[in-house]
Amino acid sequence: MKKIVIALDGYSSCGKSTTAKLVAAELGYAYIDTGAMYRAVTLYFLEHHVSLTNPKEIKQALDNIEIEFHYNPKSNRNELYLNGLNVEDEIRKMYISDMVSEVSVIPEVRRAMVAQQQKMGRKRGVVMDGRDIGTAVFPDAEVKIFMTADVETRTKRRQDELLAKKQLVNFNEIRENLLKRDLIDSTRTESPLRQAEDAHLLDTSHMTIDEQVEFVIERATAKLLQH
Ligand code: DC
Repeated sequence: MKKIVIALDGYSSCGKSTTAKLVAAELGYAYIDTGAMYRAVTLYFLEHHVSLTNPKEIKQALDNIEIEFHYNPKSNRNELYLNGLNVEDEIRKMYISDMVSEVSVIPEVRRAMVAQQQKMGRKRGVVMDGRDIGTAVFPDAEVKIFMTADVETRTKRRQDELLAKKQLVNFNEIRENLLKRDLIDSTRTESPLRQAEDAHLLDTSHMTIDEQVEFVIERATAKLLQH
């Protein structure tokens, strides 16, 4: 059967990765969390004190960054390796969330990540989540979903996620971080977060995970049957 690309874009913490993971499992597709890649670049830049305004330093850093995903059967998920080191937990911490949007606006960073994402998905059969998958990475994706949810719901979800990892973070701090990232992500010059014209809008504020997955699977099945 022909394989397709499913692009899940949208605001921070509206259930993109949970939905993408389950859709990928159901279809036997690879799941690629592109936000994790921008988080890994942010971690590297912070650790190596890379100046965000120095193109030479940025280029040099990007040349030294190798990002890979490896499946971990214990956690049943793909985990991110930065230059051979598993940084899956580190990149989810608040200090990375605080910086990641500022790193993601840098055109050189975007070009490097987009090229790598296109390579990862070249054989299709992938579910990719992010901000610019349906608009810049795979504008020809067969299924495009644009996810959103009200900010209170998203904040609560992110707080619960962090709590599960034993990170206690104040509700307002998370809320401010989400709003700040949404603003930077959707107003940057290079491939800003926006709904592609051919994307289906999915507001998850009052939806269960199962309903979200079903929404995507229905659209994917329709496309697969067309091929
Ligand atoms: O999906 P996430 O919240 O882990 O993403 C972290 C940040 O990475 C997000 O605020 C913006 C950036 N990002 C991006 O610019 N483009 C993508 N395709 C994915 C994420």
